[in-house]
Amino acid sequence: MDIPRNVKIVIVVLLCAILGLACSADGTSTGPKESTENYSVSPTPTPTPIPTPTSTPVDSKQVAPQFVAGPSGLGDSYFPNLGNGGYDVERYIIEVQWDPEEKWLSGSTVIEAKSTENLSSFNVDFAPMQISEVTVNGVRADFTAEENEVVVIPSEGILSGTDFNARFVYEGSPSLFCWDTNCSLLGGWYNLEEGAFVAGEPSSSLAWHPVNDHPRDRAQFRIEMTLPSNLDFVTNGVFLSKTQNGEVSTWVYETVHPRAPYLTTLAIGEFEEVIAPSVDDLPIRHWIEEGIVRENLAYLDYDKMVSVLTDLFGPYPFDTYGVLVLNHQLGFALETQTLSLFGRDTFEIESIHIHELAHQWFGNHLTVESWSEIWLNEGFATYSEALYYQAIYPEFDIYQYLIAGFGGRESQLLGGIPPGDPGPESLFSASVYYRGALTLHALRLTIGDEAFFTSLREYADQFGGTNVSTDDFIQLVEKISGEALGDFFDRWLLGPVLPEMPS
Ligand code: ARG
Ligand code: ZN
Repeated sequence: MDIPRNVKIVIVVLLCAILGLACSADGTSTGPKESTENYSVSPTPTPTPIPTPTSTPVDSKQVAPQFVAGPSGLGDSYFPNLGNGGYDVERYIIEVQWDPEEKWLSGSTVIEAKSTENLSSFNVDFAPMQISEVTVNGVRADFTAEENEVVVIPSEGILSGTDFNARFVYEGSPSLFCWDTNCSLLGGWYNLEEGAFVAGEPSSSLAWHPVNDHPRDRAQFRIEMTLPSNLDFVTNGVFLSKTQNGEVSTWVYETVHPRAPYLTTLAIGEFEEVIAPSVDDLPIRHWIEEGIVRENLAYLDYDKMVSVLTDLFGPYPFDTYGVLVLNHQLGFALETQTLSLFGRDTFEIESIHIHELAHQWFGNHLTVESWSEIWLNEGFATYSEALYYQAIYPEFDIYQYLIAGFGGRESQLLGGIPPGDPGPESLFSASVYYRGALTLHALRLTIGDEAFFTSLREYADQFGGTNVSTDDFIQLVEKISGEALGDFFDRWLLGPVLPEMPS
């Protein structure tokens, strides 16, 4: 999580670190310095128009089906190029090799998918790497690649409702991308002096494998990475095997619980696996990078965190959990599925551990239908911190906690980023986190504890495994509370100023 009131400073400091600039404490650049950390940043992808899907005419006499080009986006109003239409991915099978000397990735990705239209072509999101071959169902396909879109033209059309697979063979030097115009949202493949890692929201996956990169298309993953045997490879999901073959080793991980592609992380370096006691039947495994003092994690009570959140929201939705701690100034943490990512700047902050764990329900098990709904992730995860502390300390003052996190009430009366529609530039602003959480607190005071907590559990239960919108949540709460809440949510999520907290 960002420390949102310091969000600009954090980002500037992060950029300073990235660009190898020496920076003063307030994050302003004080000039270049020698650095071997030199990330390449690609420009913001330019939105391309989304073709309107043509519907197939139904005609009993018709013999030849009509085929259309699959859309190059999913119509996300903030990030129109992320994701693609016309198919739904079921599984990614990624088999790649990493050369740390050359910072070179090579290998293949197979996308197993089902078509949702008669497709003459379809798109995948993928960074500019060299693609040597694309096959669809084993047959050579044509393709064109530009910006972050690859258009695949199979030798014959794919009928709607068909299972198909597309295999991409590629190589290149993966890099970072900006997701907004002022580059406050950075994501992709980070090269460190020794190792590397992948992180980013709303996207990072397209930096290293072809993908339908939108939370609306969740899929299973099998990731196979081959790299020099002196390095470790860590990614989400369940570790299956490590096979040494001379100088190199191949690591295999698999995830059967579908996940949104931005929730994949990976790290290359020297890591220690820390197996913490299981919480009920949930295995807890952390991966700690060399140089991080692992004793500094020992105070974290994952047993308590999992049991408090489980009592509030229902069963933990996946089969494993843990944190991946990089010895790197990350500037944020990320709720990467089953393996939340922390840097050395965030791993000692308990509230962020609660926050990322809460995202496993709100953000990962329930994913947003579009990025404009981000408060359903961040507002809920932030409110979960407060709920956890209230469970531990019954006198805990939730309002004070949230208003302080927001940067004080006064400042917020002035600048109103509406958490219900913050815009891509303010996706992770304080308002999304804290006004989002204050909205839930105001809701609780309005409808009462019983209806409120029933709503949270029902919401997680009914919408787990699907995509959600604010309307879904409002309808559910209206049903449970019997109150009309349209105006309430409009004022709290979209109004120009922070409303008064109901007493
Ligand atoms: N979802 C993450 C969290 O709140 C936020 C990631 C923000 N990323 C960034 N580069 N600021 O846990
Ligand atoms: Zn968050």
